[in-house]
Amino acid sequence: MVFDHIGGNPIILRYDYEKPYSGLELLKMTNLIELIENRFGTETDVSQNVKTTSLTGDVLARRSFRRYLEREVPENLRNLLLACAQSASSKSDLQQYSIIDIQEQSTKDELAELSGSPFMIEAPVVLIFCGDTHRGQRISELRGFPYAQNTLENFMNAAVDAALAMQTYILAAESHGLGCCPVSHVRNDLEQIRDLLHLPDGVFPMAGLTAGWPSEERDVTLRLPPSVVVHKNTYNDKTLKEEIDIYDRGRHEKRPIPASSYLLSEEFDLPDFYGWSENIARRLSRPNGLEGLKRFLKSHGFKLE
Ligand SMILES: Cc1cc2nc3c(=O)[nH]c(=O)nc-3n(C[C@H](O)[C@H](O)[C@H](O)COP(=O)(O)O)c2cc1C
Repeated sequence: MVFDHIGGNPIILRYDYEKPYSGLELLKMTNLIELIENRFGTETDVSQNVKTTSLTGDVLARRSFRRYLEREVPENLRNLLLACAQSASSKSDLQQYSIIDIQEQSTKDELAELSGSPFMIEAPVVLIFCGDTHRGQRISELRGFPYAQNTLENFMNAAVDAALAMQTYILAAESHGLGCCPVSHVRNDLEQIRDLLHLPDGVFPMAGLTAGWPSEERDVTLRLPPSVVVHKNTYNDKTLKEEIDIYDRGRHEKRPIPASSYLLSEEFDLPDFYGWSENIARRLSRPNGLEGLKRFLKSHGFKLE
C-alpha cells in the first residue's frame, strides 16, 4: 500500500495490487477523509491536510482476517516480522514476554481445538504471545540477586509488553499485505496450553495470533467516536448515552448484528433495537473466566501482591 504526498493537498492513496504475495482485494479508498469516515462512520477532527505516512493509512484501514490462502509466508519475512515485534517498546526495557512460534501442524490442531478457533488449523503463521516473568527470575538468579518483583504490578507489565509486541507484529505484518487475528481463546484452558507449550512457572499465554495472506474481504469495523474515547484534559462522559445511541445506529446501518448472533436471547427479552451496546452489555453481564486465570497464575509462580 503506497501513499503519495502532494504538498498540503488531500493525500491520495494508491493500492499496490501487483504485490506478488497479496491475495487480498484491498478496499478502494481514495483519500484520508474516506479512510476516517470508513473507520468512524462520521466526521472527526482529523484534517485531510494532515501529513500522513503509509503506516497511518494502513492502520486506519486495518481489520482482522481469519481466512488465509494456502500460501506460505517465507521464512525471511517471518523473521523480519518477529524482529518488528521485538522492536515494540517495553516497560523499563525489561522485555518480559516470549513468543512461541508454532510450526508443527499437530500443535496448531490442538490449539485450534482447545480455543474453539478452527481457523488456527489452516493459518500459515500461528504465534503465542506470552507474558514472561520467568526469564527475569532466572537472570536475577544468574547474577546472584534476590528477585523482588513477583507482584501484580509486574504481572501487568509483562501482559502489556506481550500485547505491545503482538500489536507491533500485526501492524508490521499488515504493512506487507498479510492479515492477522489475535486469539485470546487460547486461554480457554490454561493448564492444557501450559502443558502443550511446556510453559514454565512465571510464563502465561496472553494471546495467540494467526497470520497469512487473506482469502476473504472484511469490512473495517466502526470504532467509537473519538469524542467518547479521547477526553480533553480530564475524564468526561456526560454525553455518553446520546453518543452511544448514535454510534449504535451508525453500526447498525453499516452492518446490523444478525439475529443469530444475539446473545442470551433465551434469558433476557429482546429490545426493539439490538445494537452494539446491547450486545456488549449482554456480554459483560457474564463473568469471563477471571477466577480461572487467578487460580492458574497463583498455582504457577505468580504472587500478584
Ligand atoms: C486481545 C485480543 C483478543 C482477541 N481474541 C479473539 C479471539 O479469540 N477470536 C477471534 O475471532 N477474534 C479475536 N480478537 C479479534 C477481535 O474480535 C477484533 O479485533 C475486533 O472484533 C475488532 O475487529 P477488527 O480487528 O477487524 O477491527 C481479539 C482481539 C484482541 C485485541
